[in-house]
Amino acid sequence: MLRKPILAANWKMNLGRSEEALAFFRKIRPGLNEIEDIDLVICPPATVLQQFAELLAPTRMALGAQNAHWEDRGAQTGEISALMLVDLCEYVILGHSERRATESSQETDQAINNKLKAVLSHGMTPILCLGENLEQNRAGQTDAFVSGQVRAAFEGVDAAQAATCVIAYEPIWAIGTGEAATPADANRVIGISIRGALAKLYDEDVAQQVRVQYGGSVTADNIGEFMVMPEVDGALVGGASLKPEFVELAREIVKSMPSGS
Ligand code: PGA
Repeated sequence: MLRKPILAANWKMNLGRSEEALAFFRKIRPGLNEIEDIDLVICPPATVLQQFAELLAPTRMALGAQNAHWEDRGAQTGEISALMLVDLCEYVILGHSERRATESSQETDQAINNKLKAVLSHGMTPILCLGENLEQNRAGQTDAFVSGQVRAAFEGVDAAQAATCVIAYEPIWAIGTGEAATPADANRVIGISIRGALAKLYDEDVAQQVRVQYGGSVTADNIGEFMVMPEVDGALVGGASLKPEFVELAREIVKSMPSGS
C-alpha cells in the first residue's frame, strides 16, 4: 500500500511569542510552499495557534496542536480541550513522552486513550506518540512495551477511526539526544510492534493504512535513510524543526519518494 508521507514539526515550548514565531516562519515558508506530495504539519505552541491558523490557511500546510484535554469544557484550569481546537487545527499530537512521564503532566495510558477518542470525535487527526525508554530497550522489552502502548491507546476506538490516525514511533532515548535509532530498528519496531498490534486489534487493512512516523533526532542528513524503510511514512521532528534546515528535511522526504527527483 502506498501511504502519503507526513512530516510534522513539533516546536514544543519554543517560538510561543507571536513575533518570534512569525520571524521564523517567514524564513521557512518560501521553501515549504514549494513542497508537494507530502503532508506537512506545523505544531506551534497553543499561544500562536490562532495566528498560525490564519497564516497557514492559504498554504498546503496544516496546523497541529501539541496536546488536548478530552472533556469539552469544565473545571479544568489551564487545559485546552479538543473542542477548543476544532476551528483551528487538523492534527493534535498526543501522548508525547515529554508529557507521559513529566512532573507537570503525568499522562497515563488511560488519559491518552480518552484524548485520542476526543480528538477523533471532533474530526481531527491524532498524532499518537509512543516509544520505549533506554532501560526497556536494553532489556529487550521494546516490542512488548510498544505494542502494549498501542493496545492501551486504541481501546474502544473502531477500525474506521483507527485507520485515520497517525502514529509517531519515538524511542525516548533518541529524542533530543542527537542519537537516532537505526533505520532498520525503527522499521522493525514499526512493522512488528505497531502494525503487528494494529493487525491483531483490527485487521491487516487497518495496520497497513495507519501512517507511522519515526521521531527522535531526525535531521536533513539522516531522514533519507529512514524514508527508504518500507514501514516508515515520515517523521515527527523537534530540534531540527526550529531551524531553517527543516525545509531541506522536507525536500529529502520528497526526494525519497518513488516519483521524487
Ligand atoms: P527531536 O524531538 O527531533 O528534537 O529529537 C522529536 C520529538 O520530540 O518529537
